[in-house]
Amino acid sequence: MRDVDGNTFLDYHAAFGPIVLGHNDSAVNKAVAQALAGPDITGIGSDEGEILLAEKVVQHVPSAEQVLCFNTGSEATYMAVRLARGVTGRTKLIKFQGTFHGWHDYLLMNIASPANMIGKQDPGSAGQLQDAIDNTLIARLNDLESVETLIKENTDQVAAIFLEAIPHNIGCVLPRRNFVEGLRRLCDEHGIVLVFDEVITGFRHGLGGFQAHIGVTPDVTTMAKAIANGYPCAVLAGKREVMRHFSTEPGGKVFVGGTYNGHPVGTSAALATIAALEDGSVHERTFRLGEKMRAGLSEIGERLGIPLEVAGFGSVFTPYFMTGDISDYEDLLRNDTTNDVRFRQAMCDRGIYMLPVAMKRNHISAAHTEADIDRTIDVAETVLKSMR
Ligand SMILES: Cc1ncc(COP(=O)(O)O)c(C=O)c1O
Repeated sequence: MRDVDGNTFLDYHAAFGPIVLGHNDSAVNKAVAQALAGPDITGIGSDEGEILLAEKVVQHVPSAEQVLCFNTGSEATYMAVRLARGVTGRTKLIKFQGTFHGWHDYLLMNIASPANMIGKQDPGSAGQLQDAIDNTLIARLNDLESVETLIKENTDQVAAIFLEAIPHNIGCVLPRRNFVEGLRRLCDEHGIVLVFDEVITGFRHGLGGFQAHIGVTPDVTTMAKAIANGYPCAVLAGKREVMRHFSTEPGGKVFVGGTYNGHPVGTSAALATIAALEDGSVHERTFRLGEKMRAGLSEIGERLGIPLEVAGFGSVFTPYFMTGDISDYEDLLRNDTTNDVRFRQAMCDRGIYMLPVAMKRNHISAAHTEADIDRTIDVAETVLKSMR
């Protein structure tokens, strides 16, 4: 990236995650240019790109039997909320402290909460409807008991559990397999819709998303960002028994619409991105570079005696300035946010762009090289030495 002052940066922010192949990928741009030469939008049913994309999502994502296209992740999670409420006739939602699911009132709660707001309602914006806030319940990640308690206290009122497949909006806190399996079991027992928000993890962490890795299948999945390498495209995918309630199906009572849904710009970019990911080489390489980065940074922290916990998965890495186990948001309160931001700012000053906000994840793309990773680790060593 180059800024208006002519400074050049090696980018790990990746526009919050969509860039998986690299900025301005030529094959994706070419596919979009071809789409622009074809039909634009008609507003009559589905067009070819939308259908081809749906088929690809069904082919790759374990829980996907049917698919709807949108332009942003927030639209997809909003529609997942409405679908869950429409199907169950219930109003309440469970989400986890530290997760982000987009800008709408229903889930914009308890993200990077200050310590004194944990366990309380912590809406993310002024202007949110109190009723929406009251209907969103907050559980602790990797703590099944906290979920069971909420379900018990709200018998037959919980429509959906929303899990950010990996809570990447606070860096990288990995959900434990038995916790995710437990969520599946609780949802089955209590007739609750299980939603995996894979807006970040979908296609970045594998063609089947994080669900393919952890081996647990949600009822509904939302995906965006890496699906289209920077172009606006999102999908909501799910089991047919749930998806059939959308108004796209005759008799479906859950209204869904949007003038630009399934726009050829987004679907053509998504098809080209998925095509570039399908032989597995991008994931193989970016995961290997991710491993190298995490190991390299951890080694420096250890050698210099700096408390540094480099978390991550696949192509994502997040250096936390702390030590010890990280299993839920409260553990991250030990992160030294001052040093975290100082480190990022100093990296930016040396031409390596890591968003200078505490706990933000970094993304490796197919455009990064082995030499880029080496340079990043070298610069990080200089910065960490100066911080020590
Ligand atoms: C996990 C998750 N879900 C949903 C969203 C919302 O997506 P969008 O910004 O495309 O509306 C985001 C955005 O960062 C996200 O990280």
